[in-house]
Amino acid sequence: MKACAAALAISFGLLTVGLLPAGQSSTSMDKEKSGVYAELAQAPDKARAKPNPFEKDPDAVAAGRNLFAEHCAECHGDDALGGKRRRKGPSLREPEVQSAEPGAIFWVLTNGVVRRGMPVWSKLPEPQRWQLVSFIRSLGAVPKTPEKKPDQGRTSMARTTPASASA
Ligand code: HEC
Repeated sequence: MKACAAALAISFGLLTVGLLPAGQSSTSMDKEKSGVYAELAQAPDKARAKPNPFEKDPDAVAAGRNLFAEHCAECHGDDALGGKRRRKGPSLREPEVQSAEPGAIFWVLTNGVVRRGMPVWSKLPEPQRWQLVSFIRSLGAVPKTPEKKPDQGRTSMARTTPASASA
């Protein structure tokens, strides 16, 4: 009888221990994994599938560059590598953004991530939002390299980092 109760207690203990952290960690881990770029993944399929009407328009990149300097650089940096001051926006040169569908980026611009400091840009006419998408995507991915110590002798490193390989 004693052994039976002990076995019950143990299996019950295992059950609760096994269940609780698993349920908690899966949600918090999902959030952490995608971090500041999580919103791009939230774009609905319909928005994601929208093609950029300026896809093949070389002028769109130049127009987007001007718009970016005017509206976005203060937070995301002149080269979209991320803001440095207090009004900080993440780098838009990471693979998460560079490999996102144009429609997903457009959707983020249209809706913002207001609770996390990314404004809504629906006040910009749609063509301008698409031009911004063109510009961002024209920049290409830049792997996270330690800015502190530029190592000129090993420029080829950039090509072999896992971040750039997956981009
Ligand atoms: C006031 C500062 C600010 C300005 C101005 C700003 N952003 Fe952002 N942006 C942010 C912040 C902060 C985030 C990170 C949001 C988050 O944590 O999800 C972000 C995120 C993004 C993202 C990634 C989406 C994601 O999943 O979070 C894109 C793309 C982006 N911004 C594009 C732009 C463009 C294009 C402009 C100019 C039209 C712009 N931003 C202007 C602060 C800003």
